[in-house]
Amino acid sequence: MKKDRFSTEASVLFWQGLSGTTAFSGGDDHRREQRILLVNIWAFFVSGCFHIAPGMLICANLGQRESFITVFGPYAFGTDVTPVFLAPMSGVTDAPFRKQADKFGASATITEMVAGDDLHAGRREALQRFRRPNGDATYVVQLIGRDHDSLRRGASIARNAGADVIDINMGCPSRRVTGGLSGSALMRDLEHAVSLIEAVVDGAAGTAVTLKMRLGWDRDTMNAPTLAQRAQDVGAELITVHGRTRQDFYNGVADWATISEVVNAVSIPVIVNGDIKDAATAKEALQQSGARGAMVGRAAIGLAWLPSAIEQEINTGIAAEEPSFAEQVESLIEQAHDSVEVYGERVGIRTIRKHLAEAISHWSQGYQQGEHEDWQALKKIACQSNTLPELKSTLLSTLKTKLEVAA
Ligand SMILES: Cc1cc2nc3c(=O)[nH]c(=O)nc-3n(C[C@H](O)[C@H](O)[C@H](O)COP(=O)(O)O)c2cc1C
Repeated sequence: MKKDRFSTEASVLFWQGLSGTTAFSGGDDHRREQRILLVNIWAFFVSGCFHIAPGMLICANLGQRESFITVFGPYAFGTDVTPVFLAPMSGVTDAPFRKQADKFGASATITEMVAGDDLHAGRREALQRFRRPNGDATYVVQLIGRDHDSLRRGASIARNAGADVIDINMGCPSRRVTGGLSGSALMRDLEHAVSLIEAVVDGAAGTAVTLKMRLGWDRDTMNAPTLAQRAQDVGAELITVHGRTRQDFYNGVADWATISEVVNAVSIPVIVNGDIKDAATAKEALQQSGARGAMVGRAAIGLAWLPSAIEQEINTGIAAEEPSFAEQVESLIEQAHDSVEVYGERVGIRTIRKHLAEAISHWSQGYQQGEHEDWQALKKIACQSNTLPELKSTLLSTLKTKLEVAA
């Protein structure tokens, strides 16, 4: 499950780290090719055993993504792998963060939601959200909207930009979104919701379309199974369900067991989402829902390595080792560097703060009272940094202290 890790050792990082990070555009097509090759070998084996139409095999061997969809579902996973995705989160899962998740081994990363008409108009924010981090992970673009033409056009733009999968957001609870009758508000109008899925499938022209939703608008209308079934009928290939209703927002606890009703209603894969924060909660969510995979949101903020670590643990049964402190610091510095490249220094540094704060809270866990306060002080300093050099030097001096203490 785990792919390439950061190669730089702590000492090298410390002595050389200040000199800069890798270019944001640095990708690795080689790993993608390897995955395609592996899938094609598997296709060859399966076709030999079960006499799948030779044409299908030829398509797969041409390496066309559409053939993956036909043969393997929207994601090129082996049938024995339980995937754990990083959830799309506005203001969080931007391209710099997704690049880090990818480097730590994420199987797929999903963009923040992007409005079809903003994409069509070429608005800067939409283009930033939509940006592909050039890694190995399956590139999923998430669209939001309520208008057929803009969603159809958005899907077409995403397809032409190389999206592997196009996801539709029917789960966002924000009043700004539901007030415009999109996001989870669409769960109140299934006719319209289904016609929008059709529009996206049309614009996607063969690229896989998936759907992310909640259990329903409120506890009295938990219509996720019906929407999932109708979405499947018009071509959706995977459904993610956050185990809350829109009226729950983020309150209470996610209801994983009720997601089993969606699992039972469709034959396409269902992904369970909500309150998953480690391998134990992922296993419990999978067991209660019967879902095919899991998705991790808030728990992964600042911890780009978490979804792939959970995926590794639930698939191998062996607890995944957390990346070293040095690796995590290196990753955050690279993310900060990329963030500044994408948004400029002022916004870039602000954008990285929530990740830093969460990472530092994570590092502080398990420390005694006095040491815990040291971490809180570090969090304050790091989150008050206004420039990239300031941020780097705070993080690297913390790393140096930690290494000296450990030596
Ligand atoms: C800050 C934030 C932004 C979010 N943005 C999106 C989004 O753009 N698209 C989407 O489908 N869900 C979005 N979500 C919902 C998450 O994808 C996920 O469904 C939710 O957080 C529940 O999972 P969790 O308990 O693991 O965080 C967002 C959630 C948060 C906290």
